[in-house]
Amino acid sequence: MIVTIDGPAGAGKSSIAREVARTLQFAFLDTGAMYRCVTYAALQAEISFTNQHELLAVAQECQIDFQNDQIILNEVPVDDRIRTPEVTRHIRYAADHPEIRAFLNGQQRRIAANQDIVTEGRDQGTEVFPHAECKVFLTASPEERAKRRWQQLQTAGGSTTVEEILAAQNQRDLEDETRKVGRLRPADDATILNTDGLSPTEVLERILQIVAAC
Ligand code: DC
Repeated sequence: MIVTIDGPAGAGKSSIAREVARTLQFAFLDTGAMYRCVTYAALQAEISFTNQHELLAVAQECQIDFQNDQIILNEVPVDDRIRTPEVTRHIRYAADHPEIRAFLNGQQRRIAANQDIVTEGRDQGTEVFPHAECKVFLTASPEERAKRRWQQLQTAGGSTTVEEILAAQNQRDLEDETRKVGRLRPADDATILNTDGLSPTEVLERILQIVAAC
């Protein structure tokens, strides 16, 4: 069985999707991490992000593995390094690249073959797994998403304001919703879940109910 969980940045997809997978004893795939690995590798290689050819070559050299909740890029664990603001700022180059998307889509389908999986991203229910048995579109208002992110950063000792987070998030929403391929949108057959005012436990319960009904 394939369960897709798509939605905008900051809707809490990653942690909830991971929890759904753990509860169901399914595999878990964080596809945003794959775009992050490619972007991180391109920054390391110091290529020009506008050079489509070089960017694709970097992507094709990326061997991305998921082991015990760790993300391994070319045999090196990279979890924290792929989540820096610098990687996030540059991610649209890989995400807007049709051949990189096709390349990563192929890898995602291979990972999902022959196992039950919860897969999380922007285009999982629409482009990558249009025939998935169960599709969830997880969203929340921009203000609520920015506030949650701010709270996370406060806990980690950050000094960014909610307004700054909201501005960056609005920019990323715009990029995610308007890209020519693999844009963020709910699949026609997805269940839309707005998580405003819901606790993580309540969101988990709702998703498990949706999956049980699929
Ligand atoms: O989920 P995330 O914030 O780690 O994703 C980072 C970026 O990767 C996101 O802004 C757009 C891109 N992405 C994508 O284009 N398609 C996916 N399936 C997952 C992520």
